[in-house]
Amino acid sequence: MRLGGEARYVIEVEEFEDVRNAYAFAKEHGVATYVLGGGSNVIGRDEGFDGAILVNKLRGFEDLGEGRFKGYGGEIFDDFIEFTVERGYSGMEAMSAVPGTLGAAPVQNVGAYGQEMSGVLESVEAYGTQEDGVVNFTTDKMKLGYRQSIFNYGADAGRYFIISVTVKLKKDELKPPFYTSLQQYVEDHHVTDFSPASIRRMVMDIRAYKLPDPRQEASAGSFFKNVYLKPEEVAEMEAKGVPVWPGGKVPAGWLIENAGLKGKEFFGFKVSDKAALILINESAKSYADLAKARQAIADAVREKFGLSLEQEPVEISSN
Ligand code: EPU
Repeated sequence: MRLGGEARYVIEVEEFEDVRNAYAFAKEHGVATYVLGGGSNVIGRDEGFDGAILVNKLRGFEDLGEGRFKGYGGEIFDDFIEFTVERGYSGMEAMSAVPGTLGAAPVQNVGAYGQEMSGVLESVEAYGTQEDGVVNFTTDKMKLGYRQSIFNYGADAGRYFIISVTVKLKKDELKPPFYTSLQQYVEDHHVTDFSPASIRRMVMDIRAYKLPDPRQEASAGSFFKNVYLKPEEVAEMEAKGVPVWPGGKVPAGWLIENAGLKGKEFFGFKVSDKAALILINESAKSYADLAKARQAIADAVREKFGLSLEQEPVEISSN
């Protein structure tokens, strides 16, 4: 979003030994730490961060054979996907072009167009601050939920630095019907090739059209989370004409569009006219303006539909 003040220290972690040294440095200086991957889903506050930001730059990935792939936390997420797709493997192709690093993918259980990290993760190696050493997590230990895991939620949030990620993929292909927007694309373009390479191409095309490139336009992607209804709320929402998907999921982009906000500007931020869940910083300079824009959008949706929106990108803070 290109907002927020400065950090006291920024430490780039390039080798395993740097991880321990970086935490030791922070401890010695009595400051908090915050681990950053690519920063594409993170927002800074105006007061900055009076601590040490650890940037994960651990690089490298390998094909372990039989559909198992391992990559280091600082690798670009999409480079890793390309590597697996080029070898004909399915499981991550629909997550193509999600910005950010591989290390961030299990932290927020990245998902797109019907695939999610929870479906392919085998294990994660992380440095734990309390253990002062490497901890191995199998998938069942990560408590993966919608944009959530043990790494960003609950008592252990923020105290693990992701060293490497191992996934298990299949020589397979996705079958229709696909996630709504992908299905629409398949029909519009009469696509019949659903190989990982073809799905990857389609998803990249959809994203290039709909989502701003964070290197060119200041944005943190989806600005709100989709809404999950309680079972007793479903009938009332459906009666209001709100689309409710399996699991009680209501697309927040639909709510924002149908509250009449698509393309509108709030305090220097624009609700994208291509996908209403995306907020673009056009001219705002401060986090305070973002807070006002967030309030205005959430208020309008609450007034119209009685549902509360929650911010999706995370904010840099002391854990
Ligand atoms: N919709 C509208 N109007 C809009 C946008 C969306 O009505 O302007 C409705 C449509 O019904 C559409 C539905 O919302 O079918 C879903 O829209 P879309 O496929 O664009 O996905 P999304 O739910 O808005 C989520 C993720 C994206 C991810 C896509 C694709 C969240 C918060 N966002 O968006 O992730 O790429 O699905 O799977 O879950 C991100 O997190 O930054 C991000 C871009």
